[in-house]
Amino acid sequence: PRYSRIAGTGSFLPPRRLTNATLAAELAAQGVETSDDWIVERTGIRARHFVDAGVNASDLAVQAARHAIEAAGCAATDIDLIIVATSTPDMVFPSTACIVQHKLGVAGCPAFDLQAVCSGFVYALTVADSMIRTGAANRALVIGAEVFSRILDFKDRTTCVLFGDGAGAVVLEASATPGILASDLHADGKHVGILCVPGTVSGGQVLGDPLLKMDGQAVFKLAVGVLEQAARATLEKAGRTDADIDWLIPHQANIRIMQGTAKRLKLPLEKLVVTVDQHGNTSAASIPLALDSAVRSGKIRRGDTLMLEGVGGGFTWGAVLLDF
Ligand code: ACO
Repeated sequence: PRYSRIAGTGSFLPPRRLTNATLAAELAAQGVETSDDWIVERTGIRARHFVDAGVNASDLAVQAARHAIEAAGCAATDIDLIIVATSTPDMVFPSTACIVQHKLGVAGCPAFDLQAVCSGFVYALTVADSMIRTGAANRALVIGAEVFSRILDFKDRTTCVLFGDGAGAVVLEASATPGILASDLHADGKHVGILCVPGTVSGGQVLGDPLLKMDGQAVFKLAVGVLEQAARATLEKAGRTDADIDWLIPHQANIRIMQGTAKRLKLPLEKLVVTVDQHGNTSAASIPLALDSAVRSGKIRRGDTLMLEGVGGGFTWGAVLLDF
């Protein structure tokens, strides 16, 4: 049998860091009122990173990819598949993955973007795993990269305080022993309206609203239930139980959703990997950013069993269970 396993992880945050207090002061100057207390209490977020003008998702993705390739002990030329999960691509087309491929100085291997908003990384990891198991690829670069600061409405305090920019990556390679054990992906398009950027480009201009809209309470209500279902489905497929999970790495959107999921899976909060406090919600980048930070801090070790779970616009959701 042929499996896939994570050979290395990497991540990158743009240097400009805004604490809640800094952001609140900038927003106050535009007549928008918020506070560190409100943001921390409702979301657990204390700071986020934003790119400077002119920096694109591919720039963050390339840095994260280089770190992952180095950690995997291979070279960019060994990569034979590139998937970038992003909802904030550099261009309408071509894909950010093609731009990343060129910036890495390689050519020839297939490269494409995958758009599943905040579930993008678990979707991309599942696609890469499938392609490796069928023999279509041997060593895949799977990246989540976002510049959500570009699509935030800074006049809407209910959304602009929640998101950040960043990228995370893994090198996933063919293996005789299982790394990825099971995954479970879903979507339900009837919820398009509760979390979307409704605008598009047409006739040389932006058609419709190009900024993020979210019904936070509707998202919240859906999130905890579907995350538990997806996690349980992967455990069942892999023949494992809650007790086998060493680390839960949920999409980092809101600490209350994350703790709610851990509780439903009967996991002690010490097993929850948390970076939302320092990164905010980085959409498709949040899971690989959290994974890399926990690997580099020595929390996650080789052999640990990890539950990755994503939920986001679409509505999309899913989970991946793996032995690291
Ligand atoms: N600062 C101060 N006050 C605020 C702010 C703010 N930034 N934002 C909203 N408020 C006010 C509201 O105006 C409201 O005031 P009112 O009671 O006088 O009308 C009050 O705070 C409560 O607002 P709610 O929207 O009810 O606050 P809630 O407790 O629902 O928290 C939040 C909002 C944090 C968005 C929450 O609903 C949430 O986290 N939802 C899930 C969002 C999520 O996870 N999204 C990401 C998943 S998918 C993806 O990542 C793309």
